[in-house]
Amino acid sequence: MNKEVKSLTTITPDDWHLHLRESPIIEQVLPFSSENFGKAIIMPNLEPPLIKLSQAKNYQKKIIDLLSPKNTFKPLMTLFLSEETTIKDIYDGANSGIIKAIKFYPKGVTTNSTGGIRDLSKVYKLLEKLPDLDLPLLIHGETTNTEVDIYDREAYFLDETVRKLRDEIPELKIVLEHITTKNSVDYILENNSKIAATITAHHLILNRNHLFNGGLRPHYYCRPVAKREHHRIAILKAATSGNANFFLGTDSAPHFDDNKESSCGCAGIFSAPNALSCIVQIFEENSCLQNLEKFISTNGSKFYNLPLNSTFTKFTKFQEPVNHPKKINIGNKFITVFDPDFPLYWKNQVIHNPFKETN
Ligand code: NCD
Ligand code: ZN
Repeated sequence: MNKEVKSLTTITPDDWHLHLRESPIIEQVLPFSSENFGKAIIMPNLEPPLIKLSQAKNYQKKIIDLLSPKNTFKPLMTLFLSEETTIKDIYDGANSGIIKAIKFYPKGVTTNSTGGIRDLSKVYKLLEKLPDLDLPLLIHGETTNTEVDIYDREAYFLDETVRKLRDEIPELKIVLEHITTKNSVDYILENNSKIAATITAHHLILNRNHLFNGGLRPHYYCRPVAKREHHRIAILKAATSGNANFFLGTDSAPHFDDNKESSCGCAGIFSAPNALSCIVQIFEENSCLQNLEKFISTNGSKFYNLPLNSTFTKFTKFQEPVNHPKKINIGNKFITVFDPDFPLYWKNQVIHNPFKETN
């Protein structure tokens, strides 16, 4: 038997950046999130993207209908910002109570983003409405200018777009999504409480060499692509610091293996099954377990002005490595789960009353 070594309990974590896709993928991937997280910000980059409230509502219903009866997982919906988005779309979303953020993809930057924005300044009028509605703008921060080196696109975008946006609308609440550079970390640290960042499990583990380790590794390809080691260390320090402006967004982004293992493989890493196991181990290795709850469970809710989850999660460390699925099977296809390339020792389980636990 695999012996328990130690355990700790936190408020149940949230995932502030999650792709659940459509049938037949959603049915298989949703439980990995809904059984481990209290709430999640659901990305709107479907085909077609979720631009209107009615689309987001239908998708939310689909998610909720797939939950097992006692599951209290809350899908927090987002609207996809397009050049056709109207002020009414924004107001409808905010007033409905189901839309918790607006997502900005530069046009064509990543999976299903061709309906995104070419020139952000064209929609400043819409964005000016967001602060009063307490809706944050979630930003995929990479320039689409292909003349800029792919490893510099996040830093370039900060200077090209984010600084300008903040000068124009300083009261706008912003989340820089899945940051991968020291530039983004420093930018968050030098600014105020209105700007935060999500960090993925895989960007805490990978640097750009992993993509080419012994051959081309399509399952480590995601956008933004992992950067140099000093950038990884900077985001690791930010995540483990407990700073209120950094929180977990797994960016779990499943794609069928044949779409990734291809001559033009698509971007996205499916990490929902083991992201938490990776994160707790990383915090332990960095002697920062005291800040774990902030990063995974409280910083995000505080930034979004949402209640903390009322359930708890017990993390247990085992003596021998624990098993997570390596692939999931859907029909005759497979989706590969993120491989951190080291053994994992922690499992987690939601508990409803930690005081009933005997140890
Ligand atoms: C995401 C996807 O596949 O939807 N891919 C990714 O590489 N992260 C989109 C995104 O968040 O960029
Ligand atoms: Zn994403």
